[in-house]
Amino acid sequence: MPTPTPLAGYKSYKNLPQLAGLCTVEEAARPGLSVEECVRRLKRFHYCFKRLHQILTARITAEPIYELKTGFAHHAYLCAEHVSALRTRIGEMREPPLGLEDVPHPALEAFFDEILNAPMTEELLWGAYTTAIPALNRSIDDYRGETNPLSDAPSRRVLRFASLELEDIGRWSWEVVFNLVDTAKQGAMRPWSRILEELLVAAGGIDGQSQPVAYASGSDLPRRYSAKPYQYDPVPRRDERFSDPWNQGVNAESFLYNEKFPARAKALMMLYKRLREIDVPEMMASIITQTPGKPWGYYRDMTRQLWDEARHAMMGEVGFVAFGVDWTKAKITLNWSYRLNTECTPLEAHGVLYFIEQGLMPKTGKRYEFEVAQESGLPLMATLQDFDWADEVLHSQIGRVWYVPEFGGLKESLDYGDAAWSRILSNWSTVKEQGLTKHENWWPAVYEMACAAEGVQPDPVVLAFDETYEGKRADLKDVSEGVSG
Ligand SMILES: [Fe+2]
Ligand SMILES: [Fe+2]
Repeated sequence: MPTPTPLAGYKSYKNLPQLAGLCTVEEAARPGLSVEECVRRLKRFHYCFKRLHQILTARITAEPIYELKTGFAHHAYLCAEHVSALRTRIGEMREPPLGLEDVPHPALEAFFDEILNAPMTEELLWGAYTTAIPALNRSIDDYRGETNPLSDAPSRRVLRFASLELEDIGRWSWEVVFNLVDTAKQGAMRPWSRILEELLVAAGGIDGQSQPVAYASGSDLPRRYSAKPYQYDPVPRRDERFSDPWNQGVNAESFLYNEKFPARAKALMMLYKRLREIDVPEMMASIITQTPGKPWGYYRDMTRQLWDEARHAMMGEVGFVAFGVDWTKAKITLNWSYRLNTECTPLEAHGVLYFIEQGLMPKTGKRYEFEVAQESGLPLMATLQDFDWADEVLHSQIGRVWYVPEFGGLKESLDYGDAAWSRILSNWSTVKEQGLTKHENWWPAVYEMACAAEGVQPDPVVLAFDETYEGKRADLKDVSEGVSG
């Protein structure tokens, strides 16, 4: 019989959990990875999360399917948070200079370049979600299993959280791929999928643990889509449920700030304003993607705001569904993100966003919307607007940190946004003349639907509302905005 090792026989005082509950003494007595090896692998994970953040952000604008747009916004944000956590952890590991912006291996770079450049949504889903993310999670699992659970507890904690969220993303993506990428499409993608695998092998895997395959030079790496440099597509696209995307036929702000209308009807109009905010992720993705060279904190904060705005849109969706309204009948426009993305520089677009969000802070802004929501007697509305307001206060801070310092002071920064916005004249007539929209007044139909679901008669005064954005600049300057925030 083998004699028990001193480790196995070791007992803590009154059998209390050993080592503060991290693991057993026996587990902690196994040597693990060196600090140098940990840093090397963590830097690779950091690089992967950074590239995934970049890829998912860049694909939000031109992706037509709303559920994918919001999914990309969510996952880009999660990746940004894990980048931040890994940066902090690497900085704690005896590693100046950190070299966090370095590419760990040219083949790993090519692997992510291929996914970024993938022309079809199906390929993006395949590359990012069924190839890169599971491979990253496997490497993180290996690290968690190999490192010493006591000495390297801070890294294991960071990676445990990352892994948890990668698994959530994985569950989302399986359902998405199952519904959107049939076997014929999967078959057609096989040759490209093999290139991705080859690149991963060439990189020695995500963590560089396997023997990398030597290529004479970086230019010998197999590349298909990334043979040409990446071109960001700034034109927002929507799926078929957004059936009249140039419609500026219902002036929501004019309704919202008119004292003669009841709070309950205003609540409905606010849901329209929330859902319309799907244009903010579209324009923020454009700013983030086209503003290189900022400190990492910029990308993290801007991505947080982008994700909040996607949530605001989904809050609108939830409200409409809860109140028995088919939201596709409220014509959700993309006019604003389209114009900012195609007519403004990223800094100008940021200026317009900041200018509008500052306009949301005073009396006519988010507090007012919250009060109307409370007055409406719909508890869900109050919840939605309460958090919408809180998020907006955060966005104002983000603007103060990353936008205002580009200028001499607050006034100059606001003037810059105001001027950029003024340059974009109303296109109300142009889009009508081009036959893109008739600016149909969708309000009565939506209002009647909500009344029917509630079992009440429509109020004739509310039903008769018929004010468009014709001739109005779309912001809160004269309470005639058609914008999001
Ligand atoms: Fe918002
Ligand atoms: Fe906002």
